[in-house]
Amino acid sequence: MSQPLIAPSILSADFASLGAEVRAITAAGADYIHVDVMDGHFVPNLTIGPAVVKALRPHTDRPFDVHLMISPVDPYLEAFAAAGADIITVQAEATTHLDRTLERIRTLGKKAGVALNPSTPESAVAYVLDRLDLVLVMTVNPGFGGQSFIPAMIPKIQALRAMIGRRPIQVEVDGGVNHETARLCVQAGAEVLVAGSAVFQGGAGRYQANIAALRG
Ligand code: DX5
Ligand code: ZN
Repeated sequence: MSQPLIAPSILSADFASLGAEVRAITAAGADYIHVDVMDGHFVPNLTIGPAVVKALRPHTDRPFDVHLMISPVDPYLEAFAAAGADIITVQAEATTHLDRTLERIRTLGKKAGVALNPSTPESAVAYVLDRLDLVLVMTVNPGFGGQSFIPAMIPKIQALRAMIGRRPIQVEVDGGVNHETARLCVQAGAEVLVAGSAVFQGGAGRYQANIAALRG
């Protein structure tokens, strides 16, 4: 079993020092930088927008894995692409025309991802696999860091892995991922692990060890 990629979620970082935090997790071995964008409408929380993504862009060479928990999402795709997003992931539940949204992301030259809330079945992406570079399985209800992992999502990871087959689509998991649940996710077929509290706990001196523990 190959080692998973680790995508620290900066939602759990020190928001008063985001540039330094992005530099620190880059130095600690982060593969992607997971940026949680929340609008207070699709989810009951409000975080950052394209201006912050643009400000953070010079602080790392790692891909920005931008998770858009916003609705509507189409009006903002271009701004996040211009700000420096590399992967733009939309929630399947936040757009009426998912096929068109994904095509638009690729037209902007970015990798296209779809996030599935816990109650959304993997069949939601069955007819857009050819437009996808990543599927994000939410293992918590979106909106906050530090929540508990929902074990019922493990079969969804397995089903997605089977559905994807040999296509070049990454399966990413997000929410409540720690060194215990990480192993379950990788065994089920996940290749990219998003982790906020499990990476940022203990402060910058712990980031490298925390990331290594998730990689297993
Ligand atoms: C939740 C976000 C997650 C969250 C992960 O809506 O999408 O990325 O920040 O945080 P932890 O790893 O603490 O559950
Ligand atoms: Zn996220």
